[in-house]
Amino acid sequence: MPGDVEQFEARAQRYDESTLGRRFHLPVQEAVLGIAARLAPRPEAILDVGCGTGSLLRLAADRFPTARLYGVDPAEAMVAVAAADPRLTVARASAERLSFADAGFDLILSTNSFHHWEDKAMGIAEIARVLRSGGHLVLADPSRSAGYARSPRSCASAIACGPARRSMPRSPASGWKR
Ligand SMILES: C[S@@+](CC[C@H](N)C(=O)[O-])C[C@H]1O[C@@H](n2cnc3c(N)ncnc32)[C@H](O)[C@@H]1O
Repeated sequence: MPGDVEQFEARAQRYDESTLGRRFHLPVQEAVLGIAARLAPRPEAILDVGCGTGSLLRLAADRFPTARLYGVDPAEAMVAVAAADPRLTVARASAERLSFADAGFDLILSTNSFHHWEDKAMGIAEIARVLRSGGHLVLADPSRSAGYARSPRSCASAIACGPARRSMPRSPASGWKR
């Protein structure tokens, strides 16, 4: 197991309540869902790649009540926390090897995970494979230029406010159309 993943096995139970979780990850997730709702107002099937404890998918369940919600994450303990919510279908898998058929999702999300992927090109290729033609990917990842390394709080507010003001020019979040 890559070292990056092992650290999450140990942190899973208290992950959502951590300072990082509340001050940084949650605002990023809310910003990503706002972008996603504009791009895909009524998605049928959503996949969260690197879903961790499923916190983004739980927010998505409220925002997109008719969507089927799937998540993958290589850390077993994170997946176990996410799987406790019966609305979510969660599997232990990495971005580089998604356990889904081609073109099954019309919206794919990923927050705070991309920098952990061992083979980013393969992960993006796998996402392209399971994304339907005309579907959307919204991926957000922390970057030093956004200030994350210095101050999670200031980075979080920059990302959360970005889309409404100016399409998040300083943030690592992007909406890509296939
Ligand atoms: C900082 S956590 C973010 C979790 C969640 N997406 C969030 O926003 O709170 C990073 C997650 O990426 C997962 N991860 C690490 N390598 C991965 C890979 N190759 N593919 C998918 N997820 C990966 C980790 O196990 C961990 O759960």
